Amino acid sequence: MVPHSLLNTGSEEYTVTELSAAKLNRMAIMSTSFVLLLLLALCRFSTAAAVADNTDVSHPKTTPSTYIVHMAKSQMPASFEQHTHWYDSSLKSVSDSAEMLYTYTSAIHGFSTRLTPEQAASLSSQPGVLSVLPELKYELHTTRTPEFLGLGQTTETMPQSDSAGDVIIGVLDTGVWPESKSFDDTGFGPVPSSWNGTCESGTNFNSSNCNRKLIGARYFAKGYEATLGPIEESKESKSPRDDDGHGTHTATTAAGSFVPGASLLGYAPGTARGMAPRARIAAYKVCWVGGCFSSDILAAMDKAIDDNVNVLSMSLGGGNSDYFRDSVAMGAFSAMEKGILISCSAGNAGPSAYSLSNSAPWITTVGAGTLDRDFPAFVSLGNGKNFSGVSLYRGNSNSMPSALTPFIYAGNASNATSGNLCMMGTLSPQQVKGKIVMCDRGVNARVQKGAVVKAAGGLGMVLANTAANGEELVADAHLLPATSVGQRNSDVIKSYLFSDPNPTATILFEGTKVGVQPSPVVAAFSSRGPNSITADVLKPDLVAPGVNILAGWSGAVGPTGLAIDARRVAFNIISGTSMSCPHVSGLAALLKGAHPEWSPAAIRSALMTTAYTAYKNGQKLQDVATGKPSTPFDHGAGHVDPISALNPGLVYDLTVDDYLNFLCALNYSASEISTLAKRSYTCDEKKRYSVRDLNYPSFAVNFEGRTTSTNVAKYTRTVTNVGPAGTYKATVTSDNPSVKITLEPNTLSFGQVNEKKAYTVTFSASGSAPVNANSFGRLEWSDGKHVVGSPIAMSWN
Ligand SMILES: *[C@@H]1O[C@H](CO)[C@@H](O)[C@H](O)[C@H]1NC(C)=O
Ligand SMILES: *[C@@H]1O[C@H](CO)[C@@H](O)[C@H](O)[C@H]1NC(C)=O
Ligand SMILES: *[C@@H]1O[C@H](CO)[C@@H](O)[C@H](O)[C@H]1NC(C)=O
Ligand SMILES: *[C@@H]1O[C@H](CO)[C@@H](O)[C@H](O)[C@H]1NC(C)=O
Ligand SMILES: *[C@@H]1O[C@H](CO)[C@@H](O)[C@H](O)[C@H]1NC(C)=O
Ligand SMILES: *[C@@H]1O[C@H](CO)[C@@H](O)[C@H](O)[C@H]1NC(C)=O
Repeated sequence: MVPHSLLNTGSEEYTVTELSAAKLNRMAIMSTSFVLLLLLALCRFSTAAAVADNTDVSHPKTTPSTYIVHMAKSQMPASFEQHTHWYDSSLKSVSDSAEMLYTYTSAIHGFSTRLTPEQAASLSSQPGVLSVLPELKYELHTTRTPEFLGLGQTTETMPQSDSAGDVIIGVLDTGVWPESKSFDDTGFGPVPSSWNGTCESGTNFNSSNCNRKLIGARYFAKGYEATLGPIEESKESKSPRDDDGHGTHTATTAAGSFVPGASLLGYAPGTARGMAPRARIAAYKVCWVGGCFSSDILAAMDKAIDDNVNVLSMSLGGGNSDYFRDSVAMGAFSAMEKGILISCSAGNAGPSAYSLSNSAPWITTVGAGTLDRDFPAFVSLGNGKNFSGVSLYRGNSNSMPSALTPFIYAGNASNATSGNLCMMGTLSPQQVKGKIVMCDRGVNARVQKGAVVKAAGGLGMVLANTAANGEELVADAHLLPATSVGQRNSDVIKSYLFSDPNPTATILFEGTKVGVQPSPVVAAFSSRGPNSITADVLKPDLVAPGVNILAGWSGAVGPTGLAIDARRVAFNIISGTSMSCPHVSGLAALLKGAHPEWSPAAIRSALMTTAYTAYKNGQKLQDVATGKPSTPFDHGAGHVDPISALNPGLVYDLTVDDYLNFLCALNYSASEISTLAKRSYTCDEKKRYSVRDLNYPSFAVNFEGRTTSTNVAKYTRTVTNVGPAGTYKATVTSDNPSVKITLEPNTLSFGQVNEKKAYTVTFSASGSAPVNANSFGRLEWSDGKHVVGSPIAMSWN
């Protein structure tokens, strides 16, 4: 299963090219299958297993598969008293035997069930049925973090209003390991009176596993079991219990309690705490060994809305489609209507452009950056040269020969075509025994490569980045002495391996280093814009720490997640936008506690407009993928800065009606809008709707044409004063002098709190229009104390 956690240490990973090959493969399967499986994020389970799963569900046309049926509840005929009876009757009209998996009341109106394609087609033409959509499979896409974000080790740096303990974060993931010390509820007051959820029992889990910190836990498996068969309870708990680790990691990142003396095998030592240590956690387990199914995800969102969570944290994704076909976008719309902020991972499909998922404007979409912490482990070669890498290996002192050891390239120690990748059973033990082996990154899990070398008798491993990963280093808790090196170093090491008759090496581990500069840099894996669904909405919204993050872990698996890893750790270090998303979820909870009256859009605006795009020395944030400054398509508004976000000065707010008008601007049909809004909403025929009118805190300007008139784009924005009275002045910077950017007015004065003021910004491109080009800029309003920044991306297509 992979919440956007492909980059988890235990995860198998695809290189970029392999990912596209895998995608194509899956597209082919999709077109012949009626169960659409989108695995756009990097997968944590092996490629082989993923393909096998897909093959298993390539059913003939008569085999039922799961559909999500959206109903226009207001169109229920008067002859029915309850909507469930009406749903039932609609279903019975196309199938005598089909049973409902779930009925949905809050996230969407409708139900999920198993149907043949013919039955699904027939049901979709019934009165009151808005759509019948095939289920999708989704994939799961810290001690140092609080200090890095300026939050400090204690609560003192953070104003703690009494309402901080009333904020509830719902985490949809692989469940929770309740024994983790990060769920200690010492000092917590009673469960908030708003809480309407429960602590469900199941395998290895009962209501006494919840407390005043972990206030609720539920699990959702009906959709999973309908497609893949009964959960194997010997392998995973049919309950909220987390046998994987990912869910415990994300939940404790968002809101774990203070745990002194935390580390992974001595790495990253310190006090672990979540971003909102006083907030409450509710766990919703939707991801299982075989993936996360949209019927289950919707059921969990349905419950989380009724349970009254304040923030929903979802580190998972599954493709990218129009909002009226995207279950997460639909459930998130309903959550937003209830005042719940939804924070989602952007995905781990970077650094390619258009690689984002979860891009609906009512979702906060989070990319990943690095911390200033590193885990150096050097490769020292027989020729005296020395190369830096990273590792979380912790062995006993004599497990690594300190002397130079024979060194071989895996591609020279295997008869397999991809022997360089160190896949299971491909290394020749005669050639590997007693040596350090260099394996190339890609396809199978990084830690599994080490296990393969170890099984063949190898003494150590050097893991080499290829072009797909560049210089991005992700540290792993390897099972044998091993280090990861970037592409440039790996090329030099290979030339030594290929030219020296008796190559030798050793690996030197140097523990934890903090203060690494520059930091943060945008992670290469972090999914990038432009937004392929609505180009006029800039995504991701912002970046947060997502590389080598320490947080709580499951006691059911070791830090690598491999079955052969017998180690058990209370904390683990993993990477992915799965890790950056809960940072923002927790920070949103902090803001909600400090400003209970703020809407989800106001909270997101505060996080975005105070995010930073330059280091303290004035240099622009870097992108590790290019080694150059990152752009708003990589980092959105910038890197989150929670202390400034508490006091943003002005916010760009949005109401439910604003989002409905946005749907009108997208020219969605009445039934498409009903699917999202769960009621009929009529767009005014006379009104001219524009996506540009959405009061978003960022600007994605798409110049539509080549003539003077179409090369002008005009936006009206409204800012709300949430600070003291004052006068704000605008400044605009841009890297493209041929676009004139004008503001009207360019000064805004506020006399009181909650006062709103509108301004218009006009972008006029002149000169010959470039093709397929992007330019970037920034608009800032400042009263001298607050800086309210908006990123600008300008594109010519
Ligand atoms: C929950 O499980 C624990 C441990 O198995 C047990 O001691 C306890 O009695 C159970 N509590 C309930 C409410 O079933
Ligand atoms: C509590 O949850 C139930 C369903 O589980 C729902 O019907 C009810 O409206 C919820 N109550 C509140 C106050 O949200
Ligand atoms: C390799 O370089 C690192 C950093 O410069 C240094 O700490 C380490 O001692 C060096 N090792 C050798 C064997 O030269
Ligand atoms: C090892 O593999 C490399 C690259 O595949 C090749 O260039 C080299 O000749 C091989 N060396 C030996 C000794 O086979
Ligand atoms: C690879 O091929 C060589 C020569 O044909 C053979 O001796 C060796 O056993 C093979 N190794 C493996 C792991 O199949
Ligand atoms: C919606 O339709 C109008 C009128 O046909 C068109 O001008 C506009 O570009 C469309 N908007 C989108 C987002 O497709």
